[in-house]
Amino acid sequence: MFPFDQLDRLEKLTFLDPVVTPLTKAIHSALDSSPVADALHGTWLGHPLHPVLVQVPIGALASATILDMAGGKDAEQAADLLALTGVLSALPAAAAGAADWSAANPSEQRTGFVHAVANTVGLVCWLASLLARHRGDRDRGRLLGLAGLGAIAVGGTIGGHLSYRRALGADHNADIEDTGPVDWTDAGAADLPEGKPVLRQAARTPVLLVRQGARIDALVDRCSHQSGPLHEGTLTDDGCVVCPWHGSTFRLADGSVVHGPSAHPQPALAVRISGDRLQVKLAD
Ligand code: FES
Repeated sequence: MFPFDQLDRLEKLTFLDPVVTPLTKAIHSALDSSPVADALHGTWLGHPLHPVLVQVPIGALASATILDMAGGKDAEQAADLLALTGVLSALPAAAAGAADWSAANPSEQRTGFVHAVANTVGLVCWLASLLARHRGDRDRGRLLGLAGLGAIAVGGTIGGHLSYRRALGADHNADIEDTGPVDWTDAGAADLPEGKPVLRQAARTPVLLVRQGARIDALVDRCSHQSGPLHEGTLTDDGCVVCPWHGSTFRLADGSVVHGPSAHPQPALAVRISGDRLQVKLAD
């Protein structure tokens, strides 16, 4: 249904690539699995940070607009305070969004760019609105605020599309308890090479297996961030696997997130050997 079915077209705007690609690469390499990157991705929170932070500017700016339109003279001070709160709180929300954007796939980065442009236009309108209020031109301030809220509504709609249609920020293993092996399930021959990531299938679930000596670790192979193939990733000396797509780092022993962009842990599986076969099941 128009215009929501048109949003899919944004990801095909390849003429944006000369701007989007270097910009996202620059952000990604500047953050480079640093503590700041993990803080912005929400790794510490177990949930992407951006959708949490955007509640404040959207709520504050929408409330400011309502007071502008219907609050009368008595509400002017409150409206100004809400406008200022909205503008200031948009900055950390934008920083978290930029971090997630830099670690998305190219099609989502194009859509994310349009999302960011709409929100930037909205923010500039609100900055101009604050300036007009400061100069005493309330009519101009109200109109600029209304225009800014309109742009932010467009940006928010595109952001919702990225989350709900493209599953950006969603846990790509959220259904594992319904679809994964809850009971012991065959995962192929017990023979595994030493210290190498191996892909096996346990019923419908792709499984990453790593043997180190007598120990065998198993994780769901589909990365929780955006379904990257963990068996094509890199093993680290401290017992982790690094996703080949955007660098999320998971501990092999339990699937916990060591570095984002994933904010969601990787489901771990218990392993046992039965005869010459391996069996796995979702860990408790
Ligand atoms: S798919 Fe993005 S880090 Fe794995």
